Amino acid sequence: MENNLTQFKHYTVMKNEVVDSLNCYDSDKIFVDCTLGGGGHSEEILKRISKKGRLIAFDVDIDAINAAKERLKNYDNLTIINASYNEVDLYLKKLNIEKITGGVIFDLGASYHQLTSPVRGFSFLKDSPLDMRFDQSANKSAWDVVNRYSEKELVYIFQNYGEERFSKRIAKAIVSNRPINTTFELVEIIRKSTPNIKSKIHFATRVFQALRIEVNSELLNFENTLYKVINLMDVGAIISLLSFHSLEDRLSKHTLKLYCSNCRCDLSSPVCNCGGKMLELVNKKPISASEEEIRINPPSRSAKLRIAKRV
Ligand SMILES: C[S@@+](CC[C@H](N)C(=O)[O-])C[C@H]1O[C@@H](n2cnc3c(N)ncnc32)[C@H](O)[C@@H]1O
Repeated sequence: MENNLTQFKHYTVMKNEVVDSLNCYDSDKIFVDCTLGGGGHSEEILKRISKKGRLIAFDVDIDAINAAKERLKNYDNLTIINASYNEVDLYLKKLNIEKITGGVIFDLGASYHQLTSPVRGFSFLKDSPLDMRFDQSANKSAWDVVNRYSEKELVYIFQNYGEERFSKRIAKAIVSNRPINTTFELVEIIRKSTPNIKSKIHFATRVFQALRIEVNSELLNFENTLYKVINLMDVGAIISLLSFHSLEDRLSKHTLKLYCSNCRCDLSSPVCNCGGKMLELVNKKPISASEEEIRINPPSRSAKLRIAKRV
């Protein structure tokens, strides 16, 4: 585990594979880390780029920001921004940066710190208030979703963000057991409303994933930001996307594919006005963590890395 003075723990997944993809040794270019977290990938980028190179890093979680500020305090060429990556265009403009000349990385999902926190409500293995906000100042928490959404809305998010087979039963049980205040209360409701089927994954995994995606508008933010950063990338810049579940990976794959095509215009458009092909895939198939890494950090087995270059 990587650790620092503020007790922020996170195991950086595929650190070398992600940072290698940026080809950033001695680089004077501008790089963006959209998901700073504990600063593991950022630190490796900073070790490799030249003093004239620059890294701009975003996170919405104030714990991550504070921990990374401490860990990376000796780097003058780092700018840490406590904001959502979906504001990347606004912040780069404020910094007078027109183009991402080097590359941009996304390491999606929650950090080990968030997942294991006894108070943040991300884990079905820890009893805590239903929260799950990446951004602790955001208005909507998992409590609001669980206690305020209609049964129909719950079914929708469990099906679409969790691919949960028993969405209807679980949503119905939630609605008839309100108010639900803690993670363990929710786990118990899921347990009682689903059949006891042997599975490699815990029976609450899908519902917790769906709630986290909904609370943080994860897929929507990611999709909108991908479009923005691709348009901000200079020719030759790299985009590196590390995802941990099929919904994120599907979005990464489809967006990269779309921007690798010769035309993204609507079929009804009489002439092409999209600007044509913008990306080229660096790896046709996603890269996975090595057996050695999976042995040391088993959650890395679900990581998939997709890389593309701006052309
Ligand atoms: C898997 S962790 C990143 C870990 C980091 N790469 C490291 O090695 O330490 C993902 C981080 O993304 C952050 N995050 C999630 N959604 C975000 C958003 N919309 N904008 C900025 N950061 C976000 C989370 O708060 C979390 O700290």
